[in-house]
Amino acid sequence: GRVVVLAGGLSHERDVSLRSGRRIADALRAIDVDVEVLDVDGRLLATLAADRPDVVFPALHGAYGEDGAVRDVLELLGIPYVGSTPDACRLTFDKPMAKAALRAAGVRTPDSVALPHDTFRDLGAAAVLDAIVARLGLPLFVKPARGGSALGASVAHTVAELSAAMVGAFAYGDVALVETYLTGTEVAVSVVDTGEGPEALPVVEIVPDAGVYDYTARYTAGMTEFFVPSRLTPEAAQAAVQAALTAHRVLRLRDVSRTDLIVDADGTPWFLEANVAPGMTETSLLPQAITAAGLDAGILYRELLQRGAMRRA
Ligand code: DAL
Ligand code: MG
Repeated sequence: GRVVVLAGGLSHERDVSLRSGRRIADALRAIDVDVEVLDVDGRLLATLAADRPDVVFPALHGAYGEDGAVRDVLELLGIPYVGSTPDACRLTFDKPMAKAALRAAGVRTPDSVALPHDTFRDLGAAAVLDAIVARLGLPLFVKPARGGSALGASVAHTVAELSAAMVGAFAYGDVALVETYLTGTEVAVSVVDTGEGPEALPVVEIVPDAGVYDYTARYTAGMTEFFVPSRLTPEAAQAAVQAALTAHRVLRLRDVSRTDLIVDADGTPWFLEANVAPGMTETSLLPQAITAAGLDAGILYRELLQRGAMRRA
């Protein structure tokens, strides 16, 4: 069986994806799985049509990778793959839609507005910023509605900072998501399903040295402290696990996902987002959760590949 890991690609998270792809391949090779890493570009369709791998592990982050586009290509070619369907990716990658789905399922998520860039042109920036602050207050957290790795994301404590934060978010897409900024414990809960139903891995608690879990804090070793399992109370950790399992279910995710949450002082988890292609780099959260669960990453990835391959067999 030939296994291909799709990595790289055309999004802003290209470098992260190359690191994720390399690490997945290393873990698989360590248990003697024959695997090739394919850097995704405009020739993908032709390459896959000619190559026809037996099963694909998509390690693409961001646009094309997590928005369902590349999985549409795999569906079109009838090539089995690990992970969620194109429809589930589209729902999950759009943070405002994912938040609405979770809210409807009874999981809390910070109050927010999704703001298309055109609104500024039509109504004027000052009026829009004032309206947002009147509705949500301050501080606020601003991010691209569709993005990842905290690119274009920042906190705003004032209207002036909000203005700058919006510019930062719009650099990565046409819609900005503005949320009330919650303080609390930042955690990530990965869910894997190797055939026995979705199971949560240990909760990972994230404590960035500089206070914000930005791109640098995510991908530079030593810039963030992690606690796995988290230091949450058993009740709060269980609530976070339940929220992640709910996200996995209502977003119709498959095989593997990671849900990012803030746990407030009362121990209530607030949904921030879910990831259909969680980072798998040296500093990423899912690999740490796998290790903390006492699992071997290579064996787990091979199980996910076997499950993906079976769906088409
Ligand atoms: N978007 C990055 C890869 C993550 O969520 O891990
Ligand atoms: Mg993300």
